[in-house]
Amino acid sequence: MAILVTGGAGYIGSHTVVELLNTGKEVVIIDDFSNSKQEVLNAIREITKKDFKFYEINYLNREALEKVFEENKIEAVMNFAGFKAVGESIKKPIEYYTNNVSGALVLLDTMRKYGVKTFVFSSSATVYGDPEKIPITEECKTGETTNPYGTSKLFIEQILKDLYVSDNSWNICILRYFNPVGAHESGLIGEEPQGIPNNLMPYVVRVAAGTLKELSVFGNDYNTPDGTGVRDYIHVVDLAKGHIKALEKLEREQKGLYIYNLGTGNGYSVLDMVKAFEKTTGKSVAYKITERRQGDIATCYADPTKAKQELGWEAKLGIEEMCRDSWNYIERHK
Ligand code: WQD
Repeated sequence: MAILVTGGAGYIGSHTVVELLNTGKEVVIIDDFSNSKQEVLNAIREITKKDFKFYEINYLNREALEKVFEENKIEAVMNFAGFKAVGESIKKPIEYYTNNVSGALVLLDTMRKYGVKTFVFSSSATVYGDPEKIPITEECKTGETTNPYGTSKLFIEQILKDLYVSDNSWNICILRYFNPVGAHESGLIGEEPQGIPNNLMPYVVRVAAGTLKELSVFGNDYNTPDGTGVRDYIHVVDLAKGHIKALEKLEREQKGLYIYNLGTGNGYSVLDMVKAFEKTTGKSVAYKITERRQGDIATCYADPTKAKQELGWEAKLGIEEMCRDSWNYIERHK
């Protein structure tokens, strides 16, 4: 029996595949390389010394997806396929809703056809919109997302809830990620955004590496200790391990719908991150304070208690490891 990982060559997908293989799971990956590279597959093999099956397909291609289910005994699906650039989603809503929402629907429909009902879904803290309280618990209200990317996650969460109501033999875990950063300690896999990065850490490492001139810090007049935005940065390897714990939970329960925040519970400001990066790597990061970025909120961090209690998972890696591993990856891939 195998775990089907959609988007398994991507940033979070590839790190999760490594953890799955390390725990002895059989893995089948599908990816269309729309935002990932073929080399990642060999890097996964190099890290784990294990192999997996791979299909280069888009999950909207129902016929090709059915072939994957025909040719393999799939026990569960982890869905990392999807577009994730917030700014781009505002310009391309049809593409985002088609790929993320329609893709998820084709995937779920195919799972249903083949009697596979165990599903782990990559959601995002973005579904909380401007959070009603900090730290954010899973009970906080969701909605009022500010871009099609976030709304696509919200829609898929709703589809999963409705699906479970219609047939409670489904076994679903929704994981709401906070801000994933870092890379595998080998430096062989990591985050490779196309073009100029939107997210903080990929931008910081490129300034340190000299490929970008300076970081723009988007506002220093927020109601936070130093005025810059506060987020819950989580090491991607911790995040990947959270998926293994989620899968184990689903294996124990056999049915249900579960929702967990995957964050550290610690909030760091933009300037905290810049200072931690400089201290850890010895590189300097030039920055200037600019206007606030539209749609940003002041503070966002998780209450990760539920995941600790019910999954037995908590983030172990700190801000130094996040900075060290992000830098290590870039150094190897300059
Ligand atoms: C972090 C902080 C910025 C860039 C987004 C998505 C979310 C999730 C993760 C997943 C903020 C500041 C950033 C820069 C800056 N997506 N910043 N200069 O906005 O918390 O979350 O990414 O796929 O859904 O909304 O993350 O890394 O963009 O920003 O000052 O050049 O860094 O204002 O305070 P964000 P981020």
